[in-house]
Amino acid sequence: MAEEVKKRVFSGVQPTGKVTLGNYLGAIRNWTPLQEAYDCLFCVVDLHSLTVAQVPAELRKNTLDLVALYIACGIDPSKSILFIQSHVSAHAELAWILDTVAYVGELNRMTQFKDKSRKHADNINMGLMNYPVLMASDILLYQAEYIPVGKDQVQHVELTRDIALRFNARYSDTFAIPECLLSKSGSSIKSLQDPTAKMSKSDVNDNAIISLTDDPDTIRRKLRRAVTDSDTDVNCVRMSADKPGVSNLLNIYTTCSGLSVAEAERQFEGKGYGVFKDAVADAVISVLQPIQSEQKRLLADKGYLEAVLKQGADKASRIAQKTLSKVYRKVGLIPKIN
Ligand code: TYM
Repeated sequence: MAEEVKKRVFSGVQPTGKVTLGNYLGAIRNWTPLQEAYDCLFCVVDLHSLTVAQVPAELRKNTLDLVALYIACGIDPSKSILFIQSHVSAHAELAWILDTVAYVGELNRMTQFKDKSRKHADNINMGLMNYPVLMASDILLYQAEYIPVGKDQVQHVELTRDIALRFNARYSDTFAIPECLLSKSGSSIKSLQDPTAKMSKSDVNDNAIISLTDDPDTIRRKLRRAVTDSDTDVNCVRMSADKPGVSNLLNIYTTCSGLSVAEAERQFEGKGYGVFKDAVADAVISVLQPIQSEQKRLLADKGYLEAVLKQGADKASRIAQKTLSKVYRKVGLIPKIN
């Protein structure tokens, strides 16, 4: 019997700054259950990180930390392809071809480009603007159909679809058309200090984010300080559009504990914010602690991580090269004679 061809999943995180609870709940956590049913590739997208200024030694450390984190969170290198983006040169090569299909106007409209241009006004480099094209290249190289990301990346995946459709129309069917997989909860975790903004790695206020490496005391302190809403109601812990701070904490709590919103609201009936925030801290700590100790164990085993990365890069390169050769042929480049 012919072997069933599994659909492909691709996702990645930038090794920039501190990986946050938002990255975990919105993305990485949702990757692990996909490994059985899909052909998965999970990438540490280091080339993307270069669009904002990096300290080279820190970038190297963050990259390895993130590889170990993926595995500690449940990515199994024997089931999924785990690799570093810069180890597969086809990402940058396809990005060049896609650059000739993407329009300056559409890149100019990207929310993240506008946000980052504001934050890094002294370094609005071409890479920052080109970033979504490199992301399109990551996805299209592997003919990935499902992209598990948080809400803030939906616009980039939509642009990837537009680029793929345009290329296919111009040069005949080449790329699979990807779609986002958003988790029911956790796809938009907000800042603890400004619950109208997303929790972001690049936030200058460390109290606004929970980093995946924060120790239990730090997690508890940050959650106790989290902005809530002034409310005299005895049942102040409830999900509501006019209570963004509490709603964000409830979202974190239910995503970490597995309880429904209704169950959580019932649990805190008649209780104040203090009791609630401590329970959120307990739930977050019990999710993060085992990940942190496993990550530490893995980082002490460099030989294992290197073997995983070598195998990942080899497997990813084989798939990527196939797509790149096809693309080069379709656009009219002469294949190299080997
Ligand atoms: P990055 O590194 O900013 O974030 C990694 C993943 O975490 C999600 N995320 C969040 N989810 C919920 N709440 C939050 N506060 C939150 N903050 C971040 C992001 O949506 C993302 O899924 N461009 C991407 C990386 C990338 C990529 C790709 C992703 C490069 N190529 C190809 C998928 C496919 C990025 O900057 O993610």
